[in-house]
Amino acid sequence: MASLNSSPAWKALKTHAGKTATAHLRQLFAADPKRFRRFSLAVGSLFLDYSKNRITPETLRLLMRLAREADIAGWRRRLFKGEAVNVSEGRAALHVALRARPGDRIGDRGAFARGLRERRRVKRFADDVAAGRRAGAGGRPFRAAVVLGIGGSHLGPAMAVAALAPYRRPDFDVRFVSGMDSAALSRGLDGLEPAATLVVVASKTFATEETMVNARALRAWLAKALGERQALKQMAAVSADTAAVDRFGIACDDTFQIWDWVGGRFSLTSAMGLPLALAIGGKRFEEFLDGARAIDRHFLAAPLERNMPAILALVGVWNADFLSLPGLAVVPYDDRLRHFPAYLQQLEMESNGKSVDRLGQPLESGGAPIVFGGPGTGAQHAFFQALHQGRQPIAADFIAVAEDGPAAGFHSGGDHRQRLNANMLAQAEALMAGRPIAEAKKALRAAGVKGAGWKWLAPHWTFAGNRPSNVILLDRLDPFALGQLVALYEHKVFVEAVIWGINPFDQWGVELGKELAAGILPALKSKAPKGRKATHDASTAGLIRRLKAKKRGRRPREKR
Ligand code: F6P
Repeated sequence: MASLNSSPAWKALKTHAGKTATAHLRQLFAADPKRFRRFSLAVGSLFLDYSKNRITPETLRLLMRLAREADIAGWRRRLFKGEAVNVSEGRAALHVALRARPGDRIGDRGAFARGLRERRRVKRFADDVAAGRRAGAGGRPFRAAVVLGIGGSHLGPAMAVAALAPYRRPDFDVRFVSGMDSAALSRGLDGLEPAATLVVVASKTFATEETMVNARALRAWLAKALGERQALKQMAAVSADTAAVDRFGIACDDTFQIWDWVGGRFSLTSAMGLPLALAIGGKRFEEFLDGARAIDRHFLAAPLERNMPAILALVGVWNADFLSLPGLAVVPYDDRLRHFPAYLQQLEMESNGKSVDRLGQPLESGGAPIVFGGPGTGAQHAFFQALHQGRQPIAADFIAVAEDGPAAGFHSGGDHRQRLNANMLAQAEALMAGRPIAEAKKALRAAGVKGAGWKWLAPHWTFAGNRPSNVILLDRLDPFALGQLVALYEHKVFVEAVIWGINPFDQWGVELGKELAAGILPALKSKAPKGRKATHDASTAGLIRRLKAKKRGRRPREKR
């Protein structure tokens, strides 16, 4: 098989990129009145406008050829069949089974049945907590859940709970504590009464240091107030290692299972969604899953030319590999989606941030861009300067919501929504069109700059434009639409991985740091000034000495 860079479609795209390099998006829009219609599509309540990318019909035709050469259709089939697409760990990645319904084309019926059983248990548990059938000490209804988890066991649920806040039970708070900082733990517990607090330990492995340190701390917090037995009755767990949960002491009735075929960052529609179910109730959680399923069905059935995840992915490949844009800014214009960039950062970067392909061969091209972002309009006042005028152009995904919806809250009725969307449209337009020098001159004149003075300011008022972006428009931000959005990006990441030849379902790159931290901890804890015999580089050893000296209240002494 030809390597990616020497494949016919890749080579054709390279040549095409060379030929079209000078075309400006302004010209492309001027030349084709149908451009918006040609390069946009709707699926359910999602609408994707990708017309502000530096593509032509020919670009898209060649990208489709690339997708066919990479056998997207075959890999998609393998994914849904439950084949071991996670080759380095010899596992399936069957997140699609978790939101399927009887009769859907999921190869592994056993996985589907187990997923369905846990989904029903999650919904029942959430509804029991809401109804007070499942209560705290002395029958006190739970008023809050504190969710302990990190990475995929945190970012998705935290994003979704915030996104669907208007649909939340008003009398129940869902808080998240991630990481190992006791300050975060204190903030998470602030004002909570142990007797009315449920603790959810969310960890696929039930071994992740951050989560387990917090789980032990909160078991002690509950036990101090309520006694050891009651403490464990107020804890629930989501994990693939149910034996470890059992050893910890959480009852099997309160343990919700996932399996090795559920990847951390693809786990939001598994029992890892328990915090969301607790927040919005079982019925709405089901609507969220239905939204994800709608995109699964679309992804499976739609031809590549009309396939939203495939298009988003192919445009991403074009931007990264053929236009050499190293980053993707993710900017949701809705405060409820404020955690979406962080969620997507893990989804894209932990999945595709790799330099070898699935067979271990060095990648010639591809790999995740740097994904970052923040909610608009705040982001406009933070990093947009660089997006518009920085020397390193990058791509952007704007995510916007058309209408408030019945549960949008305070701004309902005002013009906040229109203002948000006006800003979103303006930013996308400015990135695309820019402002050439002649227009900068006009603007300066209009601002009262006289004579030749405009020449000094013109370079600062000029925008190159031609910076690509997608706009993803949701009719409204409800559970169904959020499910769609999540599945859209899950499949986008998968398609990109297939094109690049990457296995997106492993994450070996996070292991080395974990191993080293385990070795450094005893050195930091030991009483001996230098710790054990140093095995670290001079910088690490020097910093260890400094931290230890600070802890003992001494002034660190270094030979200079
Ligand atoms: O960061 C590595 C990682 O393994 C992620 O993939 C995962 O989402 C996270 O740690 C948490 O792992 P766990 O759910 O096992 O605690």
